[in-house]
Amino acid sequence: MPETLRLDASNQGHVCQVKTLLLAGKLVAIPTETVYGLAANAADVEAVEGIYRAKGRPENHPLIVHIGDIAGLDEWAKDIPDTAFQLARQFWPGPLTLILKKNDGVNTTVTGGMETIALRMPSQPVLLDILKDTGLALAAPSANPYGQLSATSAVQVMETMVGKIHAVLDAGQCEIGLESTIVDPTTTPVRILRSGPITATQLQNALGTPVVTPPEHNEAVSGNVKAHYQPRARLKLVDKPTLLECLPNIEKNIGALVYSPELAGFASERLIILAEDKSAYAKQLYYSIYKLDQPGIDEIWLEKPPEEEEWMDVNDRLRRATYHS
Ligand code: TXA
Ligand code: MG
Repeated sequence: MPETLRLDASNQGHVCQVKTLLLAGKLVAIPTETVYGLAANAADVEAVEGIYRAKGRPENHPLIVHIGDIAGLDEWAKDIPDTAFQLARQFWPGPLTLILKKNDGVNTTVTGGMETIALRMPSQPVLLDILKDTGLALAAPSANPYGQLSATSAVQVMETMVGKIHAVLDAGQCEIGLESTIVDPTTTPVRILRSGPITATQLQNALGTPVVTPPEHNEAVSGNVKAHYQPRARLKLVDKPTLLECLPNIEKNIGALVYSPELAGFASERLIILAEDKSAYAKQLYYSIYKLDQPGIDEIWLEKPPEEEEWMDVNDRLRRATYHS
């Protein structure tokens, strides 16, 4: 594998280079509005196999196929229910992944051996241009080693993927910062398999029918395993009263990530203050954990997030990130 190029999304020549690499079946980490993706031509089985290798991902964990046009639905899926088209029209391009029956010609490498396929049309403008201009569909899991925290910046991607992929396209920090909502629209009621930036209420309003979020399901969603999104240091959820009590004398090997204004007074290089606003919080969350996850830090304390529906994706990710058997 050659040296990993760091390319700039605001440079037309670099974007062109990325298109050429992807058309040639190479692996490139690309920015999406949610997190960085580790992309390759979804129709090229060898290229897709490269993704599993670079990520160390089990072969039976399916990938999301990113498409540049709603028309891609019919190309990659079959027996598509109306609900899927309704959701795609309403939320694409954007952070919504639909699980559908895969079309007959679609290789099972990209689907992890399954008869279903995950499809999403992303809104990140440079990525959308790449998809539309090349006409490719791109298979892309989050650009991190299996089980670890998703990368929301090119620096973070480089840290773990250097030497394993051909290039990283740097478009700065991802706008949303948390992975897409994954929905199965083929069942009644429609089910959310992974909570995300688009909430059950938003989906329900768009469909006019109930949408459920089963607490447990058996779908092959790797983010569905109990321990996932884990940094090196041990993460712990801690409530505000405990933080107020402990932060003044916190040990040197502990970092903390809080959002309550009352805790801001304890600011130090090991204490990151996030916004109280959910969107702003989510955008900084992974990056802040990544920044705190340095040698010498054994534990990272996270102030327990609010329980409201809007925060469901944050709570879901943190539950898995803090899970220890
Ligand atoms: O926001 C996102 O979804 C990001 C960006 C890059 O698009 N991608 C992402 O990919 O989070 P990944 O591979 O880290 O997570 C995708 C999840 C996995 O848990 C996978 O198991 C699930 O989607 N998935 C893919 N195909 C599926 C299928 N056919 N049935 C059920 N789950 C599926
Ligand atoms: Mg992932």
